[in-house]
Amino acid sequence: MLFETHAHYDDEAFDDDRETLLASMQENEIGLIVNVGASLQSTAAGIQLAEKYPFIYAAAGVHPSGTDKLNEENFAILKAQCLHKKVVAVGEIGLDYYWGEPSQETQKRWFARQLALAGEIKKPVIIHSRDAAQDTFDMIAAHKADGIGGVIHCFSYSAEMAQEYVKMGFYIGVGGVVTFKNGRKLKEVVEAVPVERVLLETDSPYLSPEPKRGQRNSSLNLPLIAKQIAEIKGMSYEAVVEITKKNAMHMYQIKADYDLDECRQGNILVHKREE
Ligand code: NI
Repeated sequence: MLFETHAHYDDEAFDDDRETLLASMQENEIGLIVNVGASLQSTAAGIQLAEKYPFIYAAAGVHPSGTDKLNEENFAILKAQCLHKKVVAVGEIGLDYYWGEPSQETQKRWFARQLALAGEIKKPVIIHSRDAAQDTFDMIAAHKADGIGGVIHCFSYSAEMAQEYVKMGFYIGVGGVVTFKNGRKLKEVVEAVPVERVLLETDSPYLSPEPKRGQRNSSLNLPLIAKQIAEIKGMSYEAVVEITKKNAMHMYQIKADYDLDECRQGNILVHKREE
């Protein structure tokens, strides 16, 4: 089974068919899904999905573009969300300088607070970083996520920087961009890092892989990404699926007694965080 490490099923793009789509995941070998938060509202919606579906987990965090809405009062709410038993990571959090706002100062302040929160509650971080390579790296290096680590989601920087993150114990999130004709940089990253450090992600509903580029994305497209990675690495598809699943279980500290047949029959699965 494939492990989808990053999707946004709370997004309105799924309002028309969310239940049907999620119900089709297991029969299509999409075993586990982490629904990633971007705001307090989307985090709450993700937690609701995680409570409803045994195979969905949630991440709780405020995306850099929403950090101007954070204050002490709602940060306390975020912390409570992070402590939910099906919340397996803090994210997505980070820095995004592409749009020029919120100010870099605001983004850094709340990135630091959320990094510290992750360290405090011992959950890994899911990092969003765009046009902010050095600042992101410096803040993570300074913080070290208190040994918990995490993933640099939708990795968009150089192979050298990917290797630096790997040295710090981080995973590299690889999604649809790796299938794009202009995705050469990410292909080089995949070549450079061990597959034991790669996580599969779609970032649904965004970033559909080829040949579905431009359409609404879903975790059902995850095999297209795994196949591309297998090709780059000269490995079998099955090995990529198996290793990246193990990577994700390890990072998210999910111990699953996973049985797809049981799941098809609708039986509740036993997933436990490692004590
Ligand atoms: Ni995302």
